[in-house]
Amino acid sequence: MQGIFLEYKLFIVFLHVISAVVWVGGMIAMRYGAHYSFMEIESPQKRLERISHGLKRLFYIVLPFVAILLITAIFMIKGYALSQSDFSMFTYIKEGIWTIMFLNLSIMIYRRNKADKLLNSGDFLGAKNQLGLIGKYMVPLNIILGVSAVFIGTYFSSRL
Ligand code: HEM
Repeated sequence: MQGIFLEYKLFIVFLHVISAVVWVGGMIAMRYGAHYSFMEIESPQKRLERISHGLKRLFYIVLPFVAILLITAIFMIKGYALSQSDFSMFTYIKEGIWTIMFLNLSIMIYRRNKADKLLNSGDFLGAKNQLGLIGKYMVPLNIILGVSAVFIGTYFSSRL
């Protein structure tokens, strides 16, 4: 694994960085860009439908990059021998951040799917409750965690 990393280092680090860009950038664009545009839709039903559809598209886009981020991280852990290095603590922190972000994303996907079913059955209040938490807390939490992971990554790349 270390050999593969050394040979394809540029490509592996690039994939790691672009995955973070898509995952974190996608969430920021959705929460602080598209979200405010959705809120302009007057019909509550249409508004919830658009939010749910927008989130579905976002989750489809980010999921492959979430996986690539982890795969490239594993290559870097082995390639730089991070667990045996002075950077082991920061490596565990980054692994922890990825895990929390992934769990949070999985719960968001679950809630969005549930909201879709509630919308189809005409339960708009139930759908609003499911989607509300995603926008208010869950996406912002992942943005904060993602930005922190990027910061630690910058620290790594200036020291490794
Ligand atoms: C899963 C555990 C993770 C590990 C072990 C890890 C490890 C690393 C390492 C070693 C670097 C430096 C690469 C180099 O310069 O050669 C790096 C850079 C980076 N990481 Fe991670 N990472 C992890 C998760 C994440 C997550 C969750 C994000 C964001 C969502 C992220 C975003 C970045 C970014 C943007 C850089 C580039 C920083 C720069 O070049 O200035 N990483 N990471």
